[in-house]
Amino acid sequence: MTANASLLILHPRLNAYLKPSATAILHSLNHFSQTLNPSHFSLALNRNRRFAIPRLSLSQNPRNHSSSSSSAAATQISSLNSHDNGGGGRSGALSPPPIVEAPQKIDVNPPKGTRDFPPEDMRLRSWLFENFREVSRLFGFEEVDYPVLESEALFIRKAGEEIRDQLYSFEDRGNRRVALRPELTPSLARLVIQKGKSLSLPLKWFAVGQCWRYERMTRGRRREHYQWNMDIIGVPEVTAEAELISSIVTFFKRLGITASDVGFKVSSRKVLQEVLRCYSVPENLFGKVCVIIDKMEKIPMDEIKSELSSAGISEKAIEELLQVLSVKSLSKLEEILGAAGDAVAELKQLFSLAEKFGYSEWIQFDASVVRGLAYYTGIVFEGFDRQGKLRAICGGGRYDQLLSTFGGDDIPACGFGFGDAVIVELLKEKDLLPELSPQVENIVCSLDQELQGAAASVATILRQKGQSVDLVLENKPLKWVFKRAARINASRLILVGNSEWQRGMVSVKILSTGEQYEIKFNELE
Ligand code: HAM
Repeated sequence: MTANASLLILHPRLNAYLKPSATAILHSLNHFSQTLNPSHFSLALNRNRRFAIPRLSLSQNPRNHSSSSSSAAATQISSLNSHDNGGGGRSGALSPPPIVEAPQKIDVNPPKGTRDFPPEDMRLRSWLFENFREVSRLFGFEEVDYPVLESEALFIRKAGEEIRDQLYSFEDRGNRRVALRPELTPSLARLVIQKGKSLSLPLKWFAVGQCWRYERMTRGRRREHYQWNMDIIGVPEVTAEAELISSIVTFFKRLGITASDVGFKVSSRKVLQEVLRCYSVPENLFGKVCVIIDKMEKIPMDEIKSELSSAGISEKAIEELLQVLSVKSLSKLEEILGAAGDAVAELKQLFSLAEKFGYSEWIQFDASVVRGLAYYTGIVFEGFDRQGKLRAICGGGRYDQLLSTFGGDDIPACGFGFGDAVIVELLKEKDLLPELSPQVENIVCSLDQELQGAAASVATILRQKGQSVDLVLENKPLKWVFKRAARINASRLILVGNSEWQRGMVSVKILSTGEQYEIKFNELE
């Protein structure tokens, strides 16, 4: 610091800024510069060179208060200031007024499309996630997670998907292109490739994670949402899709949603593939064609046709594609495509399995379901509300070739994503939202300030026995304690009072019945 201070003082450019009297003072500062706080000095210089010395703020530095030489310097500076300004105080070239930043009023809302989760919303979210997790457990799936921030390249596919334009992506401080994940499937594929042969197939993985998409906001569509995903890796048979749909049906049933509220539209991308093959459309156009067709409900048919045509699909092929897409029954599909192809065979198998699982009434064939992500290769499905008020509740399908697009060996895979937003809208519609109130088993309170330690011991004993306790941390009147007990839905009120405590006892009140008794504090269960 000594060297640093001297350097500053001798620096010609700095001296040029200072008045002669200030320069003289600077020289006189050299002899006690050891007492200065280096961080004050350099910070002042960085902020505003012109004010370097006054912002040393000697009088505010505790180290300088103890030094007679430094307080002398402070006096010198202060007299210099009053001389320079003629008016005293802390203003002037060498002693500007302290920069008082006006408190910045911030927008207290979260960024558009994102949510806070105050306790009442968090209770609903936790309840939903517990159901996601419980259903996944019932089906024998293991939980996984991946980083919310991934390499941007993981989400860049060439098929012109909407999801790519919705990417929250940026360059990090190491000049790497990164993105907030818009979905979980590419991360899953990355992890499967990374783990390689160490994994024993099939994998049954589930995840509940936050995803980010810069979406146009509509009911049930946000810029940030949580997705429950279940994926089966390593099973080529349709049994995997049947099992996945069964898990979603199980979830709906747990929540009180029935087959008359919700259904699944099911199709297979192999339907389109078979049509395109008839017209010798190259395989590499397949993903792109699917992404265009998925927009059918969003943009006019003329635009769909012109996009398909620009992608190199002949007019005849387009006509046939559109005809097939309007089919709503498997028997009609079989009439068009014949029974020999995989598409019809797999779909028939799925419907037969649905009968065995017991959810036939939930599913229907609908060739128009294609899905907007390029990587699906086989059966695809979407959950929808039968009133038609909401966007897709969930969606998934088979993606047997995703791993090779990342340089890995292909492994058959299928899965689904289920968002946390549309389902809440549906539960509201159906009046099925659960009543979730805070739940703490005990409220413990001392009746006397001196007994707060005793109340803490009681709380500790109960917590060690697995009981939840809201310990009243201040000296509060009983009326307040009762009010709080009601707010947190406590079952028991435990009061630690002087006369009872002297006998090793506490008072217990069962709040639902009003029953009251005394008990030895260490016998509380
Ligand atoms: P997805 O259809 O893009 O598929 O999203 C799946 C579900 O996530 C949707 O059905 C919806 O419930 C929810 N979701 C998507 N975007 C939003 C949004 N902006 N706001 C609220 N909810 C949203 C996928 O993401 C695939 N990766 C699913 C998958 C997993 N396929 C195989 N495995």
